[in-house]
Amino acid sequence: MRFSGKVVIVTGAGSGVGRATALLYGKEGARILAADIDEGSAGKTVEKIRGAGGEAEPFHVDLSSRAQAHSMVEAAVDFFARLDVLANVAGIYPRAPVEKVTEEHLDRVLAVDLKGPFFACQAAVRAMKAQGGGVIVNVASGTAFYGLEEHAAYSAAKGGLVSVGRVVAVEAARHGIRLNTVVPGRTDTPGLRARGGSIPETGDTVPANERWMRPEEIAEVIVWCSSDGAGMVNGALLRVDGGWKML
Ligand SMILES: NC(=O)c1ccc[n+]([C@@H]2O[C@H](COP(=O)([O-])OP(=O)(O)OC[C@H]3O[C@@H](n4cnc5c(N)ncnc54)[C@H](O)[C@@H]3O)[C@@H](O)[C@H]2O)c1
Repeated sequence: MRFSGKVVIVTGAGSGVGRATALLYGKEGARILAADIDEGSAGKTVEKIRGAGGEAEPFHVDLSSRAQAHSMVEAAVDFFARLDVLANVAGIYPRAPVEKVTEEHLDRVLAVDLKGPFFACQAAVRAMKAQGGGVIVNVASGTAFYGLEEHAAYSAAKGGLVSVGRVVAVEAARHGIRLNTVVPGRTDTPGLRARGGSIPETGDTVPANERWMRPEEIAEVIVWCSSDGAGMVNGALLRVDGGWKML
């Protein structure tokens, strides 16, 4: 097991990519803080991990708050006495044409999708420096690189997250800390399904624009790039979309 004895925070652990990621870390022997604004759904993820013999604790966090992002990191260190991996997966992606984006819409998306992971990175770097190293994985989006209509606020946040990640990777490398950014294509999650639309289920060819990714396919890459096997993978952008967008 690649993560025996290691401590991992997964944000957004109650649903979609975050849940799949937490479950996979659990199978790999990690001790997990399953963080989410929806504590009930994080609790269900924890039940699944424990049911499979793993170790996890649920944690309520609203990542739009710097104080709560910091408390989350402190809680992991309090529960498990260290922090090896922070997986910043939580995110929201409400749609609006640019001329209808309100100040509240922009503030909320930037707070959850950029400010939250930014301050979680800040606290994680402090904790990891003190113990001699660690790994951060940020989950961005292809919208950081190409124009997708009705996603202006989201694109701003995810583009910012890609840029912040590069700086953290450069600053923290000398302390044994790596940071990689995973860039999923359209992935079949409760969050995306809630927005409706037709869901292509078929097609296994590459480029895989015929079907959506499965959350487990994104989780595999998050877990791999934070493992010791990826020890020289730092500051990388890992596009996981089956070749849908050749950036
Ligand atoms: N699904 C896709 O097609 C897709 C594509 C590219 C990138 N992404 C990114 O992948 C990540 C996961 O998306 P998903 O599709 O699994 O979404 P999802 O809606 O299924 O799950 C997101 C989770 O984040 C939690 N969350 C929302 N706001 C939060 C907050 N303020 N504080 C803490 N937790 C909060 C939700 O409660 C939920 O459990 C997001 O960062 C998203 O932007 C998704």
